[in-house]
Amino acid sequence: MDAHKSEDARLALQFCGMRFATPLVLLSGCVGFGEEYTRVAGFSNRDAGAVCLKGTTLDPRLGNGPHRVYETSAGMLNAIGLQNPGARAVVGEILSKLDFSETRFIANVSGSTIEEYEEVTRIFDDSPIDAIEINISCPNVKEGGVAFGNSPEMSARVVAACRRATRKPLITKLSPNQTDIADNARRCIEAGSDAFAVINTLMGMAIDIEQRRPIIGNNQGGLSGPAIKPIALLKVFQVHQVCRPLGIPIIGQGGVVNAADAIEFMLAGATAVGVGTGLFYEPLLCAEINRGISDYLTRHQFSSVGDLVGNLQLNSATTTKTT
Ligand SMILES: Cc1cc2nc3c(=O)[nH]c(=O)nc-3n(C[C@H](O)[C@H](O)[C@H](O)COP(=O)(O)O)c2cc1C
Repeated sequence: MDAHKSEDARLALQFCGMRFATPLVLLSGCVGFGEEYTRVAGFSNRDAGAVCLKGTTLDPRLGNGPHRVYETSAGMLNAIGLQNPGARAVVGEILSKLDFSETRFIANVSGSTIEEYEEVTRIFDDSPIDAIEINISCPNVKEGGVAFGNSPEMSARVVAACRRATRKPLITKLSPNQTDIADNARRCIEAGSDAFAVINTLMGMAIDIEQRRPIIGNNQGGLSGPAIKPIALLKVFQVHQVCRPLGIPIIGQGGVVNAADAIEFMLAGATAVGVGTGLFYEPLLCAEINRGISDYLTRHQFSSVGDLVGNLQLNSATTTKTT
């Protein structure tokens, strides 16, 4: 049977005015620029509501030296260093190869200066891309990235600059490597962010004890996968407290490998759910997660995934204070 004939309308949702066929978003850095991934046998773009492209800077970048990835006991460390062909090449040579009829495509913008973020956003603004994600949380570059994302003041300045450059939906990708993610979210909303991606990777390290050296060429890397899921859930919950009254949506992410994980993120407050590292374990994971969410909706008699968002019964002992 063609699994896609059984597309479930209950999985569809609106995200910043875009229609996502399912709540699943393929995450930046885990599916290249989209076109390679669509060649995986059995994969359909309709399995994902949206696809985030690899982090893109103004000029081409070769990225970091090896090793760039390392599997940990419950996830993966990476320090790719934003390898990409530069924004003009992405817009000029790659976007035309993507099929915009079945899913939404989101650019992932990075930079070393505020001006670079603004310029890359402007280049994508003049393209068919559906939305722009601002990556102020990349832990693997020396300048920009997480250096901006860990400061609410700098985060807001980057968002404001990108806002000047586009009217497309702006999604700010927040760093978990900071003291008060809710305060950062508040500042980014004031600066013009339409939505959030929560969370990027946590900084980590792995050591080769025989060589007595860090395994990752960059010495440290970003930790992703199941190891970070409980942290990501709490961050989504905290950011949702700020976003809920304003109707601002979140793409929850960090360690999703099955339908239960995805449902947890929606209950914590995510409108959509990202799948990244999980795709390295199982490239066809999205179809399986969609089926599991459909089963859950049926079992609990919910009419759509929207009914799950923030639908959490807190225990009386739990504090909802976020700051
Ligand atoms: C190999 C790799 C490369 C990544 N590259 C980027 C990137 O270019 N830009 C970005 O915003 N996030 C990047 N990320 C972070 C993911 O998009 C995602 O936020 C994070 O891995 C948490 O989700 P996961 O546990 O499902 O992978 C990368 C992650 C991995 C594993």
